[in-house]
Amino acid sequence: MSATSPTQRPSVNRQFVLAARPVGMPRESDFTLTEWPVPSLGDGQILLRTLFLSVDPYMRSRITGIRTYADPVDIGQRMIGGTVGQVVESRNVKFRPGELYEGYWGWQEYAVSGGEKLRKLDPALAPVSTALGVLGMPGMTAYFGLLDICKPQPGETVVVSGAAGAVGSLVGQIARIVGCRAVGIAGTDQKIAWLLGELGFDAAFNYKTTGNYVEALKNACPDGIDCYFDNVGGAITDAVFPVLNTKARIAVCGQISQYNAQKPDLGLRCFIYLLTKQARAEGFLVYQFAERYPEGIAQMSKWINEGKLKYREQIVAGFENTPRAFIGVLQGDNTGKMLVKAADASAA
Ligand SMILES: NC(=O)c1ccc[n+]([C@@H]2O[C@H](COP(=O)([O-])OP(=O)(O)OC[C@H]3O[C@@H](n4cnc5c(N)ncnc54)[C@H](OP(=O)(O)O)[C@@H]3O)[C@@H](O)[C@H]2O)c1
Repeated sequence: MSATSPTQRPSVNRQFVLAARPVGMPRESDFTLTEWPVPSLGDGQILLRTLFLSVDPYMRSRITGIRTYADPVDIGQRMIGGTVGQVVESRNVKFRPGELYEGYWGWQEYAVSGGEKLRKLDPALAPVSTALGVLGMPGMTAYFGLLDICKPQPGETVVVSGAAGAVGSLVGQIARIVGCRAVGIAGTDQKIAWLLGELGFDAAFNYKTTGNYVEALKNACPDGIDCYFDNVGGAITDAVFPVLNTKARIAVCGQISQYNAQKPDLGLRCFIYLLTKQARAEGFLVYQFAERYPEGIAQMSKWINEGKLKYREQIVAGFENTPRAFIGVLQGDNTGKMLVKAADASAA
């Protein structure tokens, strides 16, 4: 027996597949919208309707064709990605039509699942879109990357690049919550105004209109830099090294300035600074903290409810606009977390 929600069962599932490996900045034509019949469910399966899709910088490295920490997406294969959706049909006693879940079923409007690796969401606790942002992977990246890798101490100075994005905007606020001075680097004056005004960063500058990053960092960090949360790499990160304090800690989270590079971008020989400052730089992948996500989600939720942590979502409407939203993240169109809204939840 199969249980269905009031939503009519769809016959067609639209998916985006990778059409070409991008050279430099991806283009919309690198993705093709395809249509597939929605299959009948087998015993134990459920059908989910996608409500929100996450578009993230890491997807750029997954479409290069080179294996990094995960397998690449092949040409003709459906794009991967985090998703939030609603059960529309169930042949699994553990799932009921109308329930909401976070999962990883990629760029498609419907997904058949056996119910594995799904996180049940309660819309009464938080908007379900937050499961892809502040209460999801980017939020956990900020929380564990800053607190576990940088280990900031009260009174210290924390610098974060990519400061107005999904991860960076949270890193600076968490730094403030634990008693640090927060300094942000981002790419538009509007983003800088948001960091300084609404989010309470202590200092920030626009790297696109600043000539000398080292001078700008010295001005913004009169006591030097104790922690650097690196989202971008490249010339911005090069400029951090001369301003590091003794025993500084660097969390290497992302290198977005390099993701579209067509040839290696050689920069500063930085190890001399780590040596003379007895400093530490450590790369991390958020998944290494997976067992502790409940702790991170509980703490971030508490800070949100206490009014200490703010988040912003930039929501692009329409499943067909997913490639455009993804390219927008790489180009800096987003303030806060970039999401695609594919559908409204229906009453169960
Ligand atoms: N290690 C992990 O497990 C993990 C997990 C999640 C994310 N990450 C990494 O963390 C970083 C931030 O991810 P996110 O999801 O929060 O993305 P995001 O910051 O919301 O979006 C990316 C931002 O990067 C900035 N950017 C683009 N090109 C740049 C360049 N050449 N130089 C400097 N900044 C540039 C843009 O803002 P501007 O307007 O400021 O340029 C853009 O808005 C990414 O590098 C990502 O790969 C790592």
